[in-house]
Amino acid sequence: MADALSQPDPWIWRGRPRAPQPGTALGPLDEIAEGGAKEYVFGRGTTVFSMFVVRREGEAVFGYLNLCPHYSTPLNYRAGAFMNEAGTRIRCTMHFAEFRIEDGYGVSGAAERCWLDPVPVLVKDGTIHIATPEEFDAP
Ligand code: FES
Repeated sequence: MADALSQPDPWIWRGRPRAPQPGTALGPLDEIAEGGAKEYVFGRGTTVFSMFVVRREGEAVFGYLNLCPHYSTPLNYRAGAFMNEAGTRIRCTMHFAEFRIEDGYGVSGAAERCWLDPVPVLVKDGTIHIATPEEFDAP
């Protein structure tokens, strides 16, 4: 995880156990309400790869590893519980650190000035995918 001085490498997630391949389809965009979030899990047990996607308006989606930079634990305690009450920030339910949706920067709480690790995602034909490096770098 990155500290306040260094925005995280968008591909660091690929080094984690059970990381899916770039281009992997995650699921239909319609499964996430605007302003909501959904977790996607690959594998299980101690090497589980867990990520989540936040959807804003339309097809605007933002993906992150489900790992809080404070204690390296999952951000949610129940399925889909990644947002604050207002739906304006990602929130860790352990100690209530909050992060910007658009870039995962910690703006308050125990992980303030730390970053969530991004997992670049995009929507193709109504389905959320993990981006490939070519897609991520495309203008
Ligand atoms: S583990 Fe997330 S704020 Fe402490």
